[in-house]
Amino acid sequence: MNKSFKQWFLLLIPVATLSLIGAFYLTSARGDSEALNNSSIVTDSSENVSYVSVWDRETEPSYSGTLDMTVYRSPTCGCCGVWVEHAQKHGFKIKDIKTEEIETIKQKHNIPPELASCHTTIIDGYVMEGHIPADDIKRFLQQEPKLAGLAVPGMPIGTPGMEARDIKQPFQILAFNDQGEVEVFKEYQSY
Ligand code: CU
Ligand code: CU
Repeated sequence: MNKSFKQWFLLLIPVATLSLIGAFYLTSARGDSEALNNSSIVTDSSENVSYVSVWDRETEPSYSGTLDMTVYRSPTCGCCGVWVEHAQKHGFKIKDIKTEEIETIKQKHNIPPELASCHTTIIDGYVMEGHIPADDIKRFLQQEPKLAGLAVPGMPIGTPGMEARDIKQPFQILAFNDQGEVEVFKEYQSY
């Protein structure tokens, strides 16, 4: 090894070390900013990890109607449980009935089969089928309409209890009456 090469080599070691530290710093800083951008996951002191949903915001603060509701759901339905938590966050008090006879419940309450979803909620004599946003239930109840209830048919991804990060399927809340006539109560194109 000649002298000039040895000097160059000795200089290379600290330069390489500094580059490594620099690269490490940049990578971890980028990781932090990604974590900040992804604000859908936050850590909360009362629960381990909770998902902050667009549906957590309250849009019907003046609601003064019934808060007691009965929810019928299959004991194995996970998204139903998340919807129940959503309703509780908005002040509803839930009588949570787990049953294997969910189809019978839907028939008993004359839910048009094409409007069916997973869980069925009864409140104030009305039927609330599926993943309806809690504040839309409040808005509906305040109108005291001559209707049988509301439904979000199927289980659109993005509805309360069906959140999947940024995937938000457009969906409609349908209102139906005892004759099985259906109309659009509210439409969510983006949310
Ligand atoms: Cu569901
Ligand atoms: Cu459900």
